[in-house]
Amino acid sequence: MTERVQGDLYDYPVYYDLIFGSDWKAEYDFLTGCFEKFAKKKVKRIFEPACGTGRLLIKLAQAGFEVSGNDLNERAVKFCNDRLERNDFARSAFVGDMANFKLKKKVDASFNMINSFRHLPTEKLAVAHLQCMADATNKGGLYVLGLHLIPTASVDRIEDEAWTAARGNLRVNTYMWSKGIDEKKRIEYLGLKIDVWTPTRHLEIEDEMLYRTYSARQMAGYLKKVPEFEIVETFDFAYELDEPVKVDSRTEDVVFILRKK
Ligand SMILES: C[S@@+](CC[C@H](N)C(=O)[O-])C[C@H]1O[C@@H](n2cnc3c(N)ncnc32)[C@H](O)[C@@H]1O
Repeated sequence: MTERVQGDLYDYPVYYDLIFGSDWKAEYDFLTGCFEKFAKKKVKRIFEPACGTGRLLIKLAQAGFEVSGNDLNERAVKFCNDRLERNDFARSAFVGDMANFKLKKKVDASFNMINSFRHLPTEKLAVAHLQCMADATNKGGLYVLGLHLIPTASVDRIEDEAWTAARGNLRVNTYMWSKGIDEKKRIEYLGLKIDVWTPTRHLEIEDEMLYRTYSARQMAGYLKKVPEFEIVETFDFAYELDEPVKVDSRTEDVVFILRKK
């Protein structure tokens, strides 16, 4: 029998981590490549704002980096810390707001790969976040920031995506689609349907996420408000270090490589 719930995917870290964790390698290789190529100092200490389950933090910790992260969701932070501890690392994730935090020790690099920045609902909070990140970063260090933009030129936007992930007896099918954009409020409504199958259970989770919209020009304007960061390169979600992209009115996804001056 199917059990149906209206829920928040972030409250289900085991399923979230399976859905988004299986694709870690391309992001991991890209990030470590960026550290080598663009940081002006050797990257040792790393921070992830809105780290969720820490799917990339655990891989970076295993590679010898000193990692930490924050997230608003207590269940995600617990999942992240439990996994770090199981692997003999410190419980270095903490519950916190990415627009209002201070780190005890500055870091050499940070990353925010898949749109978490767009969860910040106002310009004030977006700029506050960038300022927190600049304050948390050593000179010559990096902030790798990835998000989807709303093209202002006419392009066929990809409006839905479906994929499956499985581990042992657990299988999760995910369908994500854009429900539409309120241009005045600058909110994109995303629908999510997650089907979770185990040998004895079928759970269907329906979620709706709100993402602030950014055009290329709006994003450039916000980045200018935190002049401690310079944009050293831009890429897209293909994560090809040899293929930087030029951001313009047609761009749909971008990864900014920001460096602290
Ligand atoms: C798309 S998930 C990304 C998680 C992780 N960064 C990853 O790459 O898998 C977005 C995360 O942002 C967190 N979040 C949303 N608003 C936040 C805020 N203001 N401060 C910290 N975390 C926030 C959510 O709880 C969620 O874990």
